[in-house]
Amino acid sequence: MKKVIVIGATSGIGRETAKLLLKNGYRVGVTGRRINLLNELQHEFGQLCVAKEMDITHFENTILGLAVLVKELGGLDLLILSSGTGEINQELNFNIEKSTCQTNVMGFTNIVDWTINYFIAQQSGHLVVISSIAGLLGSKDAPAYNASKAYQINYAEAMRQKVRSLKLPISITDIRPGFVNTDMAKGDGKFWVATVEKAGTQIIKAINAKRKVVYVTKRWRLIAIVLRIINR
Ligand SMILES: NC(=O)c1ccc[n+]([C@@H]2O[C@H](COP(=O)([O-])OP(=O)(O)OC[C@H]3O[C@@H](n4cnc5c(N)ncnc54)[C@H](OP(=O)(O)O)[C@@H]3O)[C@@H](O)[C@H]2O)c1
Repeated sequence: MKKVIVIGATSGIGRETAKLLLKNGYRVGVTGRRINLLNELQHEFGQLCVAKEMDITHFENTILGLAVLVKELGGLDLLILSSGTGEINQELNFNIEKSTCQTNVMGFTNIVDWTINYFIAQQSGHLVVISSIAGLLGSKDAPAYNASKAYQINYAEAMRQKVRSLKLPISITDIRPGFVNTDMAKGDGKFWVATVEKAGTQIIKAINAKRKVVYVTKRWRLIAIVLRIINR
């Protein structure tokens, strides 16, 4: 039975992905700060699901929590990193930018480094990060959010280079959503907003195919191509 950890399974994309894996019989460790929402999943799926309260900006506790989860799950084959935050910040309030960087940059790096080191020692594994199409361009309205997503995209690429150079069968999948109907989808002028169900289904397909980079939903790839041309 495959063992999975989903970081940020209390709501939105992470929760939907965790549910789809649980429905398919995977053993899933679910994390986030809102433990009551994790306990709901545990009640629904019983022993397949292990809940662990985790704030990814508490770096040392996160590593301790991951080690405990892996022990309780009996191993780790796949880790999905969905936790993220971002606010509209037209006032350039540093506290908002700081909080975004602590979660999306420092918290992200802490977990990715731990996971890759774990998979290198194990000589196998699959890391999935949920970045964003927002990482392909800067934003005057949410500077730290878009910049942090560019960092995640670049970091995932760096990890792919690292495992390739070690010639190890470790996969890295970078999921880049457009708009998905969750609390994170902020601001006006949203379009092509996907349901979490549709996003979750496409993410599971991408994981099963061990894809490197995937736009969710698929049509966002067109926007990525346009952005690449504009940015030249
Ligand atoms: N929705 C979109 O349109 C969209 C588009 C592109 C990319 N994304 C990305 O998709 C990912 C998931 O977001 P979502 O759309 O599913 O929104 P969401 O429903 O708000 O989910 C955010 C998740 O991040 C977790 N989280 C936030 N801060 C955390 C912290 N300090 N420690 C641990 N967990 C934390 C939340 O859990 P707790 O609050 O319980 O801790 C929650 O599970 C994010 O990385 C986001 O940037 C979303």
